[in-house]
This record gives sequence, structure tokens and C-alpha cells, in this order.
Amino acid sequence: MTFTHDIVIVGAGGAGLMAALYAAEGGADVAVVSKLHPLRSHTGAAQGGIGAALGNEEEDHWIWHAFDTVKGSDYLGDQDAIEQMCKDAPRTIVELEHYGVPFSRTKEGKISQRRFGGHTRNYGEAPVRRACHAADRTGHTILHTLYEQCTKKQVRFYDEYQVLDLLRDEDGTVTGTVAYEILTGEVHTFRSKLTCFATGGYGRAFKTTSNAHAGTGDGFAIALRAGIPLEDMEFVQFHPTGLYRLGILITEGARGEGGILRNSEGERFMERYAPTVKDLAPRDMVSQCIYKEIREGRGINGKDHVVLDMTHVGTDVLEHKLPEITEFSRVYLGIDPVKTPIPVAPTCHYAMGGIPTNADGQVVAGPSREDDIVDGFYAVGECACVSVHGANRLGTNSLLDLVVFGRRVGIAMAKQIRDGVDLRPLDEDADRPTRELLESILSRTEGEKAVAVRTDLQETMMTNVSVFRNEETLSTVMDDLAQLRQRAQNVVADDKGKQFNTDLMDAVEVGFMVDYAQSIAASARNRTESRGAHLREDFDTRDDEAWLKHTLYWADAEGQHEIGYKDVIITRFQPKERKY
Ligand code: FUM
Repeated sequence: MTFTHDIVIVGAGGAGLMAALYAAEGGADVAVVSKLHPLRSHTGAAQGGIGAALGNEEEDHWIWHAFDTVKGSDYLGDQDAIEQMCKDAPRTIVELEHYGVPFSRTKEGKISQRRFGGHTRNYGEAPVRRACHAADRTGHTILHTLYEQCTKKQVRFYDEYQVLDLLRDEDGTVTGTVAYEILTGEVHTFRSKLTCFATGGYGRAFKTTSNAHAGTGDGFAIALRAGIPLEDMEFVQFHPTGLYRLGILITEGARGEGGILRNSEGERFMERYAPTVKDLAPRDMVSQCIYKEIREGRGINGKDHVVLDMTHVGTDVLEHKLPEITEFSRVYLGIDPVKTPIPVAPTCHYAMGGIPTNADGQVVAGPSREDDIVDGFYAVGECACVSVHGANRLGTNSLLDLVVFGRRVGIAMAKQIRDGVDLRPLDEDADRPTRELLESILSRTEGEKAVAVRTDLQETMMTNVSVFRNEETLSTVMDDLAQLRQRAQNVVADDKGKQFNTDLMDAVEVGFMVDYAQSIAASARNRTESRGAHLREDFDTRDDEAWLKHTLYWADAEGQHEIGYKDVIITRFQPKERKY
């Protein structure tokens, strides 16, 4: 079938729903197409908070928030977009509150705020309480509220439709998408005046991750295959505190509420590395420090983890402000954080890079923000790169990015529709490449299963392109990925049926994973400096002269790639050495 709408948004997490809500409020006919039911989107796993300089608990200003974000990004974030985000944050939080998000409260009834990594008062003086939260289920409450509001505004939902292709006409304008209906096995075409990707992150490309199983990064690969570059893919965030071995998130809000990281000697080691903010240093630093402790033999019992000590913060804080992580520790590790420190290690958490956009979410497929706009195509949320996170995102700025830019994109798309956009014709057989791809997988009777290829991919990405990288590990991962590409093209789906054929979708997804994994590895190998989350052991300092620029990565169908660059926008904050 062909479905037609003014706007089709792919992905139903916080960014997709926020864009849908504001586009629908602006009068557009909006559809959201998602491979999951919206309430299963990964935004629901965001725990500790959303950043905004409300100043409810102590003095704060948006400009301090902007400075922290720029410094946190290791000066690679675009400062015009960062200013926009931090200025817009307080107003957006109030709007969310009015839509019904049940934020936790101070005694006076204001929105409660807590400390988070890298958020400081007065340009780095000391940690500040800036993270607005709903206990430690902040993303969950935002997701549910936005879904209710979208339903109220008659947004049309296509749940469990997995988008597999982006359609562009001969002049490059995006005209729609092709999706696989998971319930029936039918292939459908979505024809739209505007298309917006809000497809989330790629944590599942790494062995240890905080991301949901659906975080396979489909949107990155679909865009790349449609000729669109990916920006700054070398910057992969490892959250310092994943539950040991499982990778499940233990919110940074736990350290915001007083939790302390300790090594095998019981030492609060972050005091040595970041004397001012200690455990509340930004994530890139804390993850690197944890691994340094482990490498120098101070992992707990000689193993590859440290502990997060919450035993002194009290039952009340754990049960009421951090109920989710308290429960997770009890259920998954059989540890009661009231009495016993929690074993933690870094876990792949967030993609700083992605589909390049401007601050209204229009996709920009080249170095010029004016001349390289892709007509008809928007991107927002984790799959997009505005770039407000640069080389390292601050905690709480992910939910903020979703809602601030989701709102801006929704408003911009609705305006564009009101101003008049043509519905372009689609080729009769626009869905042919997708059908051929699915048929070729289904027709194979021999070969390995997608899971084997995926497991090897996750292993090599984790070993070779995670927190520490060097020329040797990066060459290894690139060789591995070249082989994995061949293997991914020959996987077999045992299930030949039509309904809920997850075997078939696994086979498609692993092909996507190889494509963008190559962009991460190649971009990391190309950047011969250390900046933010990209720590090269063989080039261990930041080199602004050569590398204060964004990477752009293009690839063809065979995975042959090209790398280009884009300027970083600097407004007020000149690059300096980062000290915390
Ligand atoms: O630690 C956390 O609660 C995660 C928040 C974030 O990634 O922004």
C-alpha cells in the first residue's frame, strides 16, 4: 500500500513525539512510523534528569549551562546551537510540566533539581543543581506524556512498521520512505511532503551498552545509503556507570545525590583527576579514569570494574529519589545499595555524531549550512548531529536536545507545510530495492545467522573502538568490519514466514550495523588527536590547529568511503584546556 501524509516522522521516542506534537499543533497532517510501540521507545530508559537553568534550588543562568555544554563538548559543539538549546531549556521544561510531566518537587512545590556531571555554577566554580527530574524515571514520564498529547492531537501512529529505505527523486529531494509491516510482512510506501528521522542511537553496535535491543541505529545507515553523510561519528559516549557485565544504566543522578566511585583500595579516585567537581566530572573523563584505575591494577578484586558507593546517602534518598536504580541493583545483581556498593563499569550509551542538521532540523549534506540542505528531509534527536554535544555530551542534555529540537523541528515543518510544499510523484516501483533485499535474504537456505555476525561486530567494536583507541586497534576493527560486511551480505533467515519475522529484520539490521560501524571506525582512525570521548593513545592531546573541525563521512554501496570536514561555530567561548 501507499500511505500519504504531509509529514512522516520515523521513530516514536521523545524527539519524534515532540516533533509530531508541535507539527500537529501547527495544523499539519502528521504520521509517526515506528518499529516499536511508542511507549517502548528508548527515551523511556532515560533516568536521572533533563538540564535547564531554572534556578529552583540555587542560582543558575542559561549562559552557565551553555558554557558547561561547550566545555563538556571539548569545544567541538556548535555554539550557536548550544546557546539556542540552553536558552530554550527553561521555557520547554515549563511547557512539558503543563502538558503533564509529573516532575519531582522541592518542599516549596517547585520542580526539583539535582547535580549532574559537568554542570557547574559560575563557569566551573562548583557543581550546580540543574537536572530537573521525575525521581529516576524522567524519560519514562516524558515519553508517556508526549504520547498522550500526540494521541489527543490526532497524530496518526503506524506501530511496528520498520522503515528500511529513504526515497529521493532525481534532484535529491526526499519524497518518502519504504517500511516493512512487522505484523503482516507487507512492504508499504509512505509518501510525504516532509520526512523526519528520529530513529535514535546505535548502542547495540557495542557488546556492553545501556541501550535497548531496538537501538540498532537503522536511521544512520538508511541515510548513508541514500547518499547523506554522517557527522562526527568517531565520538561515542561511554557512560561511566553501567551495572557490571550487564551495561544497564545506573544514573549519574546517583552521583548527583552523593554517590562516590571507589577503587579496590576504597579510594575516592576521582578526587585525584578532577579536584573541583570530583565524581561529577563529565562522562568522557570519568569513563577514562575508571579504565585507568583498572589498567593500573586497582579494579575491584583485580577485575574490570570499580564500585559506586551509595551506602552513606541513606535509604530515603535511594527509595524515593533513586527507586529505579535501587531496584535494578537488587534485581539484576542481588545487591542492596543501601548496604553494599554497586559494581559498575563504563557502558556504551550515546551517539554524539549523526545525520548533520541545522538548528531547525533540516538535513545538511555538506560543509555549507546554506547550500547543502536536503529538501524534504529533517532529522532530530540522537540520530541527528546539530551539533550541540560535540566530542562529549553532558548528562541531561540528551533529553533536553530531544525536546528543544523536537519542538523546533515540529514548528519548522508545520510552517513549511503552511507556506506550501508540493507532494512529489513517486516511481511506481519505489519499493523495489527493499523488496529485492528482503527476497534475497528469504531465498537463501544456507549461511550463518545474523546473530553470529552481530556478536562478532559487537565484540570488535568494544575491543577496538570504545574508550581507548590507537592505530593498531583501529586498523584491526576496520579489517574486521570489511570481513563482517561480506558475512552480513550472506546471512540466512531460518524463518520464512510473514508474521513477526524478527529473523528477517535481524538480517537487515546487521547490514545497517556494519555500514555505520565503518563510519565510526574510519572517522576515528582519521582523527589523529584526542578530544572528548575520542581518546587516541598514540595522539594523546587535543590539537585545535589541525582538528577543530567536524568530520563528514560518505560511503557508497560497497563501503568505499570519503571523508570531508565542516567548520565548528564559535560564538563566545574560545577553546581552552579543560580542567575540572
Ligand atoms: O545518567 C543518566 O541518568 C543519563 C542521563 C543522560 O544520558 O542524559
